[in-house]
Amino acid sequence: MSHSHEKVETNVGLMAVLIAVAVSFGGLAEIVPLMYQAEAIEPLPGVKPYPALELVGRDVYVREGCYNCHSQMVRTLRFETERYGHYSLAGESVYDRPFQWGSKRTGPDLARVGGRYPDDWHRVHLINPRDVVPESNMPGFPWLEKARVDGELVEKKMRALQFIGDPYTDEEIAGARQNVAGKTELDALVAYLQGLGRHAPRGGN
Ligand code: HEC
Repeated sequence: MSHSHEKVETNVGLMAVLIAVAVSFGGLAEIVPLMYQAEAIEPLPGVKPYPALELVGRDVYVREGCYNCHSQMVRTLRFETERYGHYSLAGESVYDRPFQWGSKRTGPDLARVGGRYPDDWHRVHLINPRDVVPESNMPGFPWLEKARVDGELVEKKMRALQFIGDPYTDEEIAGARQNVAGKTELDALVAYLQGLGRHAPRGGN
């Protein structure tokens, strides 16, 4: 017994292989069950793919790099749930590609921001945050108000998402252009923000 121990400890190559085996076993034991656990891969009741306008808003959010300052994941800690609401569940973000959980919080977490402010507050805030929060150091995004949403592109995105398995109906896709007609990227981003946390379980803890 002690003899074979010595063999492993004096043979670097063998030691490296055995370490790799031990570490990957630990990793697999953690990761594989998650791939089959319903609560990690199935949407919560009521969670649906983003409606056309919110889908555009989500892409604007990613393009503008809002995630560099904002997370979208309430952790299971008392001071977080008291401030933001129920902690985040995996089933809320099954249609988020890529998800926006993050951990960078120059600004507050946004996972539960939907409904916290009126649409007009968001519009003013996004154009120039200091108009509503004087001490804010968030940058303004005034160009969003002038950028029109491209209806044809939204339709294509929805079709692509349907192709990879998001349960969009053909009617939803057919109506996409109509739903975003005349809208600006600012309208889309506000719609997206107002939908955040819509399916969160109620209550703080
Ligand atoms: C450089 C960092 C930074 C970036 C980039 C940034 N924010 Fe912020 N954001 C902040 C800070 C700081 C606050 C808190 C002060 C305030 O309300 O303006 C904030 C606040 C907010 C709030 C209010 C949250 C609340 O609960 O009061 C919203 C909504 C928001 N940001 C959305 C966005 C969106 C959407 C983008 C991208 C278009 C964005 N932010 C980009 C830093 C940032």
